[in-house]
This record gives sequence, C-alpha cells and structure tokens, in this order.
Amino acid sequence: MPNTDAHVLRADWLEYVRALAPASVDLLFADPPFNTGITRSSPPSGARRGRVTSYRYTDAWSDAAAYIDWLRVRLTAALPALRPAANILIHCDWRADHHVRILLDQLLGPDRFVNHIIWSYGLGGSSPRRFARKHDDILFYSRDPAACHFDPPRVPATSRRLAGRVKKATDVLDIPSLNNMARERTGYPTQKPVALLELLIAACCPPGGVVLDPCCGSGTTLVAAARLGRTALGCDLNPRAVALTRRRLERERPGRTPARPRTP
Ligand SMILES: C[S@@+](CC[C@H](N)C(=O)[O-])C[C@H]1O[C@@H](n2cnc3c(N)ncnc32)[C@H](O)[C@@H]1O
Repeated sequence: MPNTDAHVLRADWLEYVRALAPASVDLLFADPPFNTGITRSSPPSGARRGRVTSYRYTDAWSDAAAYIDWLRVRLTAALPALRPAANILIHCDWRADHHVRILLDQLLGPDRFVNHIIWSYGLGGSSPRRFARKHDDILFYSRDPAACHFDPPRVPATSRRLAGRVKKATDVLDIPSLNNMARERTGYPTQKPVALLELLIAACCPPGGVVLDPCCGSGTTLVAAARLGRTALGCDLNPRAVALTRRRLERERPGRTPARPRTP
C-alpha cells in the first residue's frame, strides 16, 4: 500500500532540517547540486513530448572548498534529526566525490563508511580523449554500521550458471538513466530514475521508516518512498520543484492514474 503521507516544503535544506524532530529519520538521501559550474536547465528536447522545458537550478560555487563548506553546514545541521542507527546516502559525481568522502569521514568518522556505490547509467556519448564518464557516485555511511538497517537488494544474475535467477546486488548498480521516451520523465533537470531510489530505499530504510531528501528536485525520492510504504520528508529551494513533487505524489494516491506532468 503506498504511503502518500509525505511532507514537502519550499525551503533551504538548512532551515528545513533544523525544524525536524530529533532522532526521527531512518535514511537521509541527498542528491544535491554537483558543483558543475553551470545553471542546470530542462532538456530542450522535452518540448517535442509536451514536457516543461523551463525548470532551472543553480549549480555553481566559486571553488570546491566553497561547495564543501555549503554541504558541511547542511549535513551537520541534519545530524540531530537522524536516528542513532540511521543511514546516509550522498549522491555526487567525479567532481566532488573525493571531497565529499573526506567530509563524511570528518563528520561521522571513517569507521561509519559502508560503501562507495557506483550508479552505472550507461546512456550518453563517448569521448576520444578519455574513458567516457558513465557513472555517478553514492557514498553510503551509517551512524552505526553494526546496527543499521540493510536488506540486500536482489538483481538479475548475469552468470550462465545462475541464468534466470537473482543474486544479491554488488556496489555497482546497473540502472539506465531516464531516456527521452521514459514516461516518468518530468522535464526537471538531473531527474533520477525511480528504480534507483526504490532499490536504495528498500535496502537502506526499514519498512515503515522515514526517508529525508533535503534537495528533492522533481520528487523522485518521495515517490519511491511512497511506493515502498515509507514516510517521505523533503524540501527544495526551488518552488517549482516543490509543486512538481506534490503533483507526482498526488498521482501515487490509490485510485489515481499516472498522467504526464503539466506546467505549473
Ligand atoms: C540534483 S537536483 C535533485 C534531483 C532529484 N534527485 C530528482 O530526481 O529530481 C538538486 C536540487 O537541489 C536543489 N537545491 C539547491 N540548493 C538547495 C538548498 N540550499 N536547499 C534545498 N534544495 C536545494 C535544487 O533546486 C535542485 O532541485
């Protein structure tokens, strides 16, 4: 049964988490801007499919140190809201993963590191100058790795011996990114697939638990949490992201048929 009892607000991550009840969150998943140095915009190709093409968010800091300071303040503010054995997943890429890992070691302790997950998404072009970059990084820490919730996800086995069966997932997740044809595409820039968030939430948040996404964008985390019966909390600075998240959650209500997102 979906849990559409989600809470989403237009707010800065910093203010939002300060207002949360202490020790109330089982999983913090954050997919913040990656410090790409540009304004992220909706793919213009979405216009051909009737999608919104005017979503934007800023993704530029003066340098890596300023970006990590921004993240440090917000992660620190979120810690009191986490339960003693809560899990933390921070989604980033090659630009900042090394800095974010050091930050998490400093804030939580290196012994709280669990996994460096590779989200291998496949889509995109190749490069004549280097190996094509085809993955994001998801850093998995736990406040208490010995007591945290972890339910190993099952994925299709690839070996001939196990053909047609499933096996426990490794730290490399092969999940395609959303192509232009994908029905779940909203037009929001850097929208992640629900399949990725469903896998992570089912693995890292106990049934009936609380998931927090303080940079929720189009609301993918909240939709996945709702489908899995978890309570979702989210915020975003961008009011149009919050409006979009609310519409996506509304469509998760029992009896509602999925529809293409409309322009706010
Ligand atoms: C990478 S996108 C999230 C995409 C999302 N996971 C999805 O699937 O749609 C990052 C989001 O962080 C938001 N953001 C940036 N600074 C923020 C802040 N200080 N507080 C809350 N949200 C912020 C942006 O508006 C943007 O929507």
